[in-house]
Amino acid sequence: MMTSDPMTSASASTSAPVPTPSVLGADAIRGFTPPSNCLDGKTILVTGAGSGIGRVAALTYAKYGATVLLLGKTLSKLEAVYDDIEQAGGKQAAILPLDLQTASFADMQQLANVIETEFGTLDGLLHNAAILGALTPLEMYDIDTFEKVMQVNSTAVFMLTQVLLPLLKNAANGSIVFTTSSVGSQPRAFWGAYALSKQAVEGMSAIFTQETKNTTALRFNCINPGATRTNMRAHAYPGEDPRTLKTPEDLMAGYVCLMSDASIAVQGQVIDLQPKS
Ligand SMILES: NC(=O)c1ccc[n+]([C@@H]2O[C@H](COP(=O)([O-])OP(=O)(O)OC[C@H]3O[C@@H](n4cnc5c(N)ncnc54)[C@H](OP(=O)(O)O)[C@@H]3O)[C@@H](O)[C@H]2O)c1
Repeated sequence: MMTSDPMTSASASTSAPVPTPSVLGADAIRGFTPPSNCLDGKTILVTGAGSGIGRVAALTYAKYGATVLLLGKTLSKLEAVYDDIEQAGGKQAAILPLDLQTASFADMQQLANVIETEFGTLDGLLHNAAILGALTPLEMYDIDTFEKVMQVNSTAVFMLTQVLLPLLKNAANGSIVFTTSSVGSQPRAFWGAYALSKQAVEGMSAIFTQETKNTTALRFNCINPGATRTNMRAHAYPGEDPRTLKTPEDLMAGYVCLMSDASIAVQGQVIDLQPKS
């Protein structure tokens, strides 16, 4: 939050002007070359950190100096990522087992309290966890599946963001990154609740941006990884040769950039990591 301390204002007139951070475009974010330790001193929470893109993002954030809080459903997977970070010489991570499908708002508040007690602040939040649900016409979409997908992919994302906002505001430059999909901006037949949940996430990012940009140093953005070699992609496209797809590792420049201070002037954007040419 900016302050208008008259002492600061007076001394500012005699010292060098603070440079305005440059607004990186999508190409610069995709092609970012992370300086080593560019996330040093930052604490970053990654949801769905046990596998897929979230696992690689967690390992990568640790590689660039962050303390990573590993949130996910399956404890054994989180423990394996914790061990990998330790073996690579990263800062000690923290494991936060939480099922986003069943967690209540009170559970999330408790989680925020634990983070506050242990870390005091939170610099970054990567909302990565999601489920695919069914690929079927809306006319016959199963209601239970619909509710589960909306809960994990958008309601829990909203609740977690809300409970963590006070900690993110404590950070000098808090960054919240939502994960969207191509169907988050372009509705597509048969993608059902998954598409609707990602549209909700894109709307959430835009509204949070408008509501906070004049009063906080927070920034909210969406990242669309595009077709990526993970379990989710294999379920959505069972006949596809996974070797034709980018790996999560291929996409990490953008993920690091949005958490680093290089992107502090980027807000309210949807960054497509594999735009169609
Ligand atoms: N892969 C693609 O081609 C692609 C394209 C566009 C967008 N995306 C988006 O990218 C993100 C990552 O996708 P991915 O491909 O890496 O998916 P993934 O391989 O299926 O991994 C999803 C992660 O979310 C976690 N998760 C699922 N349900 C959860 C719950 N109830 N509570 C807590 N964690 C839960 C999973 O944990 P468990 O392993 O413990 O279940 C897993 O770690 C998603 O938001 C997805 O929508 C992916």
